[in-house]
Amino acid sequence: MALKIIDKYAKSFVKCEELAALEPVAAQALKTVNARNGAGNDFLGWVDLPVNYDKEEFARIKVAAEKIKKSCDALVVIGIGGSYLGARAAIEFIKSPLYNSLKKDTPEIYFAGNNISTTALTELISILEGKDICVNVISKSGTTTEPAIAFRVFKAMLVEKYGKEGAKDRIFVTTDKARGTLKHFSDEAGYETFVVPDDVGGRYSVLTAVGLLPIAVAGIDIDAMMKGAQDARAAYTDEANADNDAIKYAVMRNALLGQGKCTEILVGYEPYMLMMSEWWKQLYGESEGKDNKGIFPASVCFSTDLHSLGQYIQEGQRNLFETVVNVKNTGAEFVIPDDEANVDGLNFISGKKLDYVNKTAMMATLIAHNDGGVPNLMLELEDRSAYSFGYLVYFFEIACAISGYMLGVNPFDQPGVEAYKKNMFALLGKPGYEDMKAELDKKIGK
Ligand code: PA5
Repeated sequence: MALKIIDKYAKSFVKCEELAALEPVAAQALKTVNARNGAGNDFLGWVDLPVNYDKEEFARIKVAAEKIKKSCDALVVIGIGGSYLGARAAIEFIKSPLYNSLKKDTPEIYFAGNNISTTALTELISILEGKDICVNVISKSGTTTEPAIAFRVFKAMLVEKYGKEGAKDRIFVTTDKARGTLKHFSDEAGYETFVVPDDVGGRYSVLTAVGLLPIAVAGIDIDAMMKGAQDARAAYTDEANADNDAIKYAVMRNALLGQGKCTEILVGYEPYMLMMSEWWKQLYGESEGKDNKGIFPASVCFSTDLHSLGQYIQEGQRNLFETVVNVKNTGAEFVIPDDEANVDGLNFISGKKLDYVNKTAMMATLIAHNDGGVPNLMLELEDRSAYSFGYLVYFFEIACAISGYMLGVNPFDQPGVEAYKKNMFALLGKPGYEDMKAELDKKIGK
């Protein structure tokens, strides 16, 4: 098993009876997922995805990735939310947060269209100057403002640089199978397209072409990643598995919420966990945060943030719990050198592995926070391989679905995301939004 949950540092914060009462609720939630008869069941395509995926498209993804690797110095991945977080998390987790600066035989990968920042866009344009580029635009709806603006820019850049015909071979589009405007436009323009399945929502889509194409371009073994997800699916969808860690995680989260612990902090001890945490925050925040319910998902990177947020976690409001992702084998080794002068007084750890110090910091912090009234769950992950990443992704997805059903929400919709979009369109003067604009102008005081 690539992953194991350790709950002994959280158990003392909840009563045994509470856990016993929640366990059947969680078991029922898993049954609802498996039977596909709960809220949002049109969006459960991700459950069987690790075994029931489009094999022809999977092979095409590998071919496209090879083509991209051969024809460009840099791939620009355009997408927002679920349309980019998974790929970025995988590349940083498995390869490195410094992937673009590593010595490698794969293209640099840049993410665009995930904000409306002029600085970010103009800096990227300048970085790409003189480089051969390909673009992978990812948008299920095809109409999301942020990626749509970025796609306008990079499509025009490619056409100017390579001509219409040349650009055709460098633009790869991942979108809805048939309905969306982006699909129609791409077919007309002759771009190669990949599918975001109808029954898979953005935040559950990393194991579709949405994540797999950029991940494969980074030289990551997507077969191993799918195998990890397959093995996790076998373990966590099994209703007869009495030792189901996804159920344990969902039960513990809901029990802690019952004790007023309404913020969960995902803790990593490695910078390569940063984007994984961003992906996790979207998954849990967008799935559970509705109907005035949900646990607020936050994240930290220790030991860095022990020197900033550590104070709050140790002694601030006691409405927090932490879930620590402990990557057992981090895949690198470094020994702390001896220093004759010993100015820092650290010669007592000379010759020790740096990871030993990091893991010691983890246990020291866990106990300190626990003593300070912060329950800690730990997810022990074997390593940072593609297999383990696939396993962890599936674990979080199924636990999120179970936990969301336990809370009594639909974990697969995101109605709240529309509110800002409507306001923005009205304020920007989009035709059809005139009445709304007048109301908003009044609120703003125009
Ligand atoms: O999870 C989600 O549904 C969202 O984060 C979407 O992925 C995001 O809004 C982007 O949407 P689209 O892929 O339609 O451009």
